[in-house]
Amino acid sequence: MTGKKLNVGIIGCGKIAQTRHIPEYAHNTHVQLEGYFDYSQERASTMAKQYGGRAFDSIESLLADDKIDAVSICVANESHAKLTIQALKAGKHVLCEKPMATTLEDCEAMIDEAKKAGRKLMIDQNQRLARAHVIAKKLLQQNTIGSVLTFKTTFGHGGPETWSVDPGANTWFFDKNKAKFGAIFDLGVHKLDLMLYLLDSHVTSAFSILATLDKRDSAGELIGVDDNAFSIYKLNSGVLGTVAASWTYYGEEDNSTILYGTKGIMKIYDDPEYAIRVILKNKEHIDYSLDQIQTNDQQTSSGMIDEFVDSILSKRVSISDGETVLNAMKATFAGIESNEKGQMIEIN
Ligand SMILES: NC(=O)c1ccc[n+]([C@@H]2O[C@H](COP(=O)([O-])OP(=O)(O)OC[C@H]3O[C@@H](n4cnc5c(N)ncnc54)[C@H](O)[C@@H]3O)[C@@H](O)[C@H]2O)c1
Repeated sequence: MTGKKLNVGIIGCGKIAQTRHIPEYAHNTHVQLEGYFDYSQERASTMAKQYGGRAFDSIESLLADDKIDAVSICVANESHAKLTIQALKAGKHVLCEKPMATTLEDCEAMIDEAKKAGRKLMIDQNQRLARAHVIAKKLLQQNTIGSVLTFKTTFGHGGPETWSVDPGANTWFFDKNKAKFGAIFDLGVHKLDLMLYLLDSHVTSAFSILATLDKRDSAGELIGVDDNAFSIYKLNSGVLGTVAASWTYYGEEDNSTILYGTKGIMKIYDDPEYAIRVILKNKEHIDYSLDQIQTNDQQTSSGMIDEFVDSILSKRVSISDGETVLNAMKATFAGIESNEKGQMIEIN
């Protein structure tokens, strides 16, 4: 690590920027927060006043500032690819929010541009760094539950309309033009990426059903994107698994994963007391009491900002380098295609 500080710009100053990116950069002693841009000038100025640096009046002017080494892209899904590519072309390292992009071609174009520009591209798949997931990966590598045969993983809560910095039924999360897809992009991508990361695998077959069951816009019409997405995946290892993503789990969030192996079961974030519970065939139990995963209401440091900064300063590949996230995006788009065609989709 060099003594030089990394100068950072924030593009999109909404909820995720305000709750994770900006405070986590501000805590990192190797970072100087230099600039902010948002469609809402007021939002960018408020962040500049609170954390230092200045508000820019266009993305072009922020990207033209040679002092800025790296940017976080924290805007609605539809602009991820365009702004990431623009920032890479301007010579910036990029930490882009998930879902990586709204088409597979865009995901691939982002990776190509990062290679061409010789800059880092990291996607904020923060589930990979959640404490229990870090430990679970080690336990799986140590064969604690034997060979994994199946899994079920879930991410569900009451919906993003109370989360966004512009809350309510008109949130961009419900707008097909800005979000493109709903629960599968907001939550499903997190859990699918996590499973492929934990199991070091890729998907060979995907079958998904997307539905809009309950969420309505301000006119009382069902929204244009899915509020529930249920998927079955087959991995190259033969493992079978289900991923449930839902915006209609009213009352309590579910962020749990259960893996079933030849020697026993591993439950992650499934018990309020123990973040990991291992239950072996011989009835032996191993419990791990750790912090619970961050929820919309309870934010803890994601560790992803420190990881991004360190990967740049130490010139190493980050834990969720764009290339490694492509795996989950390919399978997500295959699932979406399967929903459209009503049949299972094979992935080469
Ligand atoms: N990694 C995670 O766990 C996680 C959690 C929540 C949201 N997200 C992702 O973060 C992104 C932002 O979500 P959010 O919850 O902060 O939404 P938000 O509605 O709270 O904020 C979005 C902000 O971006 C601004 N904006 C939108 N398009 C812009 C553009 N092209 N240029 C400049 N500003 C623009 C808006 O004015 C708003 O201030 C989304 O892609 C979302 O999926 C990730």
